[in-house]
Amino acid sequence: MKILSIETSCDETSIAVLECTGNIPTPQFKVLGHALYSQVETHAKYGGVYPNLAKREHQINFTPLLISALDQAKLLEDSKQYTASNLQQEKINEARLLLERESGVAEILIDFLSTHDKPKIDAIAVTKGPGLEPALWVGIQCAETLSRVWQLPLYGINHMEGHIFSVLIDNNPEKEYSNVLTNIRIDFPVLALLVSGGHTQLVKSDEMGKYSLLGETRDDAAGECFDKVARILGLPYPGGPQISRLAREARDKMIDKKFNFPRPMINTPNFDFSFSGLKTHVLYALQKHGELKGNEKLDAAREVEDAICDVLVAKTRIALNKYTEIKTLIVAGGVASNQELRNRISVLENEFGIKILFPTFELSTDNAIMIGIVAFVRFLLGDKGREKSTFLKAEGRLSLN
Ligand code: KG4
Ligand code: ZN
Repeated sequence: MKILSIETSCDETSIAVLECTGNIPTPQFKVLGHALYSQVETHAKYGGVYPNLAKREHQINFTPLLISALDQAKLLEDSKQYTASNLQQEKINEARLLLERESGVAEILIDFLSTHDKPKIDAIAVTKGPGLEPALWVGIQCAETLSRVWQLPLYGINHMEGHIFSVLIDNNPEKEYSNVLTNIRIDFPVLALLVSGGHTQLVKSDEMGKYSLLGETRDDAAGECFDKVARILGLPYPGGPQISRLAREARDKMIDKKFNFPRPMINTPNFDFSFSGLKTHVLYALQKHGELKGNEKLDAAREVEDAICDVLVAKTRIALNKYTEIKTLIVAGGVASNQELRNRISVLENEFGIKILFPTFELSTDNAIMIGIVAFVRFLLGDKGREKSTFLKAEGRLSLN
């Protein structure tokens, strides 16, 4: 089964084509095509993501990325001399109405649909939430359009579930993802530490597709804290990779530790997090300290990375002590590409006799591959996608259970 998947929840526009085979508990995937455009440079000058700017960029980039992903998957070859049939023309006219609110994408997408035959895919998947609603809507309206013109089932996918299943794709030395059949097995029950720019959650999953949220951040997410502290330190957006680069330098050079930042909620007997106080502490500490000299910026970066990692690892450890039935720990989301976090989490493998799965570095951040994977898992679990008479809705605050 071939799935075309779409991700536009934040500042990455991504479209993938997956070949999906196998069954529960070992679905298998081959990435046939993957096109991604990151808007980080657009947002960098503002120090964060602006929803309406993100929406505009998704609209501009959607159709070129769609063509690129289908082309990589060799699904455009048969359709070059195409003229739409009457039936299809009728559907395309309907699509115009659907795309009314997405004027920035309508013309070029309609033009593509009018000049290309339906590619040989079996289903479409799109992120429906959580995320920035104006950004989510672009992917959803385009997915609805494709699904109605090509008469294919449509799956609305939870972005966080996507991060959980992102670990099912193998590393390939030459590509950011494997284009050969993957063969990774997730043994349940699973504990998932989901750490991104918008979320910090500990989730327990006793079987594929079922989730219970153990705890989450009460204010800023871990990634958001990295981004905000980076801004305080005068580093560009996104801040996570920048802080982690300076922190590594501080460790390599064994720079003296002068700063001492708090580890918020590290000992509270629940699975909630809070990172906004850490950011405020850093802000005041640096204001009091005055200009950073010599290696002091490296020291501050290392200390903030240490503080965030200490809290994430401590809470994960408490959860593993409580839920002794856990067989697999999954750590995913943008912050999972932090090497220091990976090093510290890896210790838990022997300590608890569990398997730990991380996504490849490239698939830690947002991508459509993970969205297609979830759609196939949903299909295997008996889900037929949204009813044709209904329309998907963007759900900015969609939760996992
Ligand atoms: O999952 P993601 O791509 O987007 C959201 O769904 O939010 O995560 C983006 C977040 C940003 O806050 C970014 O600073 C953080 O992931 N991030 C990192 C690293 N790479 C990305 N944080 C810490 N260390 C990294 N190496
Ligand atoms: Zn994400």
